[in-house]
This record gives sequence, C-alpha cells and structure tokens, in this order.
Amino acid sequence: MAEKTVALKEEFLAALAVADSMEAIEKLRVSYLGKNGLVTGLMKEMKDLSPEEKKTFGQKVNELKTEVSDALSAKAEEMKALEIQKEIESMPEFDVSAPANLARGSYHPITLVQRECETIFKSMGFTVEDYSEVVTDYECFESLNIPKHHPARDMQDTYYLENGQLLKTQTSAAQNAIYKKYKDALIHDGVPIKAIFPGRCFRNEATDACHENTFFQMEGVMVDKDISISNLIFFMKSMLSEVFKRDVKVRLRPGFFPFVEPGFELDISCAICGGEGCPSCKHSGWLELCPCGMIHPEVLKAGGIDPEEYTGFAFGLGLTRLAMMKYGVGDIRDLNSGSLKVLSQFTDDE
Ligand code: DAH
Repeated sequence: MAEKTVALKEEFLAALAVADSMEAIEKLRVSYLGKNGLVTGLMKEMKDLSPEEKKTFGQKVNELKTEVSDALSAKAEEMKALEIQKEIESMPEFDVSAPANLARGSYHPITLVQRECETIFKSMGFTVEDYSEVVTDYECFESLNIPKHHPARDMQDTYYLENGQLLKTQTSAAQNAIYKKYKDALIHDGVPIKAIFPGRCFRNEATDACHENTFFQMEGVMVDKDISISNLIFFMKSMLSEVFKRDVKVRLRPGFFPFVEPGFELDISCAICGGEGCPSCKHSGWLELCPCGMIHPEVLKAGGIDPEEYTGFAFGLGLTRLAMMKYGVGDIRDLNSGSLKVLSQFTDDE
C-alpha cells in the first residue's frame, strides 16, 4: 500500500510541473484532494486493512495529503506572481517619478492682447463695451456715412442673413449705439464719451498668411468739447507704449475712411530694427498699425450729437494684427487653427 502513496505522489508532482495556470492548479486540487479525489480515494481503501497497517498507511496518506496541499499552494503563489508580472509587462511603460500631468487650458493670444488693452484703456477712464456680431446694415454702414452703393462697401463684403442682417465687418458698427447710449450724459452732465469695444469681425476674404474671414478689432471713441488730433495722438501713443512695453513713436499718414474726417493711418516705429529699417518694416522703419481719425460730423449727427458743439476721435485697432506683432506669429491662420501646440506657447502665467 505504501508504494501507492509514493506512486501517487510522483504522478501528482509530474502533473503539477506542467500545470501552467490557476485553473490547471485548481483542477489538480479537485482531482487529488476533492471529495472524489485520488488522495481521498486512498483513505477510503484503508477500511480493508489491519489496524496495524491502517496506522502506518494512514500516516503516509496524511503526509501525502499535506504535501499535495502545500505543493498546490506554493505553485498557486508562484503562478499568481507570474500573472502579475505578465500584467505589468503588458502595461504601457510609465515613469512613476514623472510629475503629474497638470496641463490646463491657456488663454488665446488675442484674448491676452485684448485684456491688456482693456486694462490700459480702463486706467485712462474708458469703459469697455460688448456688442453683437450680427448687426443691421444701418449699424455697420449707413450710420457710418457709408450709404448703399458707396464704393467703400466693396472692401467689406460679408455674410448676410436672410432677414437682411449681416455679420459685422468692423467694430465701428457699434459706434452709433454707443453714442446713443451715452449722449444724454454728455449733453446734460458734461460727461465725455470714452469707450472701447473689442469684437469679432467677419469679411468675405480669400484666406492667406495675412488675411482671414474672421478677425478681431478693438474700436475706441472719445467725444467731448474741444477734442483734437493731439488727444488722439496722446491716447494712442500712451496705449501702444504700454502694450509694447517701450516708448513707441507714432506717426500719422492720411487715410480715407468715410466715418472720419480727417482720417489717418497710424504707424508705430518698428520694434525689430528700432526705426533703422529692416525686412519686417519693408525698410521704412515704420509699421502700419491703427487706422483712426476725427469722427465725421454726419456720424456724430446720426448718433444724436451736435457736431457744432462736440468733436471726437475714433480708432480701429486690429487686435489680431497686434497679437501677431506682439507674439511674432507669422501666419494669421495659426490664430484661428485651434491648435494647442501653436497657441499654448503664448500663455502668460496669469
Ligand atoms: N473700421 C475700419 C476698418 O475696419 C477701421 C477704422 C478706421 C476704424 C478709422 C476707425 C477709424 O474708428 O477712425 O477698416
């Protein structure tokens, strides 16, 4: 009988050696130690033995039972460790010492420039106005001294809604509403109108590195008694010196816009060459930045303000242009791309 335990043990060890999964080990446990298992079967055979034999054989079977049970547990442990190891190896590699990914969204460069301009103008007593992107023909053109069939409309083709409204081509479209909003305080309480209104503008443009169908401007107006071109130059120079963090030189050249008279193109000294002349400024030492002028009497009148009594200046700062200059962005399309790779570089640590 003793040989039976030895043979069974050998048979078990051979089977255990080739068991290569938790299920295989569990199967072995059942077939050896289960109710109808082989070891349990040996126990059952004892009933026919003499008491003497029962004792020695019983001992052997018990030893075998313990050995089988221990060997199964050890192999199960080994198997578990192996499976964990396999799982670890199949996982993508990662560096536990790497800092956590704290990537957050970032402000768009145009938002950064816009906010900077707003802060500067607010510190000079200007209010910041919001205005809709869908406007009427009157707001965008008529009230700005651009009647139907005026050739100035050619440069500002845009997207029209079926109801005749349009996507605004210029932030100037808010001028009329701003004059109407503040004219009473101006006329009755002598409070000058000082407002800026940043906004998104649209034009039917063929896009290239310098042109987009969607871009941002920031319009500004100041209306009071005795406002002159000197005031315009002062405000523009102060604002641009703050934006570029240096003393910016400005110059005015004549420019035509139906809603200002006289109208100007305001240039700033080139930051790259300091005014010496370089490829960026086409060797002129100046960069065209901001059209502006003295508000046309017809435009003031349309806003309910008497041009005999009040004068004012207006400017239309190209925010998109300003952001490109400030951050050195060569292609305007990058700004509308939504590409985080491009845009997140400009984030300020705000
Ligand atoms: N609205 C003009 C444009 O988009 C820019 C402009 C020119 C605005 C002169 C002004 C101004 O306020 O005075 O082309």
